[in-house]
Amino acid sequence: MQEQIETRAAQPRGHRGADADPSADASDERYRSVHASSLPDLPVRSNRFARTVGARDHPRVLVRREVRADHLDVRGLLLTAFVRGDGETPVEAELAEQLRTGPWFLPALSLVAVPVDDGHGSGIVGHVMATRGTIDPAGAPALGVGPLSVLPAWHGRGVGSALMHSLLAAAEATGESVVCLLGAPRYYRRFGFRPAVESGIAAPDATWGGVFQARTFGDHPAAPGTFRYAPPFDAL
Ligand SMILES: CC(C)(COP(=O)(O)OP(=O)(O)OC[C@H]1O[C@@H](n2cnc3c(N)ncnc32)[C@H](O)[C@@H]1OP(=O)(O)O)[C@@H](O)C(=O)NCCC(=O)NCCS
Repeated sequence: MQEQIETRAAQPRGHRGADADPSADASDERYRSVHASSLPDLPVRSNRFARTVGARDHPRVLVRREVRADHLDVRGLLLTAFVRGDGETPVEAELAEQLRTGPWFLPALSLVAVPVDDGHGSGIVGHVMATRGTIDPAGAPALGVGPLSVLPAWHGRGVGSALMHSLLAAAEATGESVVCLLGAPRYYRRFGFRPAVESGIAAPDATWGGVFQARTFGDHPAAPGTFRYAPPFDAL
């Protein structure tokens, strides 16, 4: 049975976040240098949007498990969301396909967002997946998030947040103890992510520093060690 979570995208706040601090900005810059090929300019929502699109009018999305019939649409989404200025095909589309091919694939943790309201388009507008990784040397199970993407026309409407909250809730409910990712700290902090080193987890690449983050669940501390993504990430 498909699990579906209907969620109303958050009311736009129309500002860049009062809690921004210089160290977070520095980390975000570091993320850009590590991930420059896939990080777009930050979408900045205007107050005009906040005034004209009230919560009542805000498009709602369903977050549900990805199914086989979604794969082509997800590929199209990834090619659009990670489009690069140099014309190169975004690696994330191939990555998602490779991530579905091995024992590291966790179907319950590959989610799509689709609109439920008429008048706001149809089809998949967002996608996220988490796959099985390990924390070495013990080989303790952990999750690696990525890719996460939202169609540009839907940026700033809470779709990415709905996907991340759904993913984290599903991960916690299924007994996972830690979720890791590489991403802009200013975005992922709102979901409870902190630099992974604070949980004793080292990045696969030591140069990533604070942009490699972890969210832990429950009372059990994550096993200390070095996180290893599912093998398809090694080809990036
Ligand atoms: C990152 C992404 C998934 C966010 O999706 P979204 O649906 O627009 O996000 P939400 O509406 O939930 O959240 C919007 C907030 O995130 C912030 N944000 C979005 N992208 C960000 C980024 N790269 N760095 C920092 N903040 C970011 C917005 O400024 C906004 O902040 P505010 O709430 O303070 O106004 C989307 O921009 C995207 O698909 N980008 C292209 C692919 C990508 O870079 N994926 C992430 C790779 S780690």
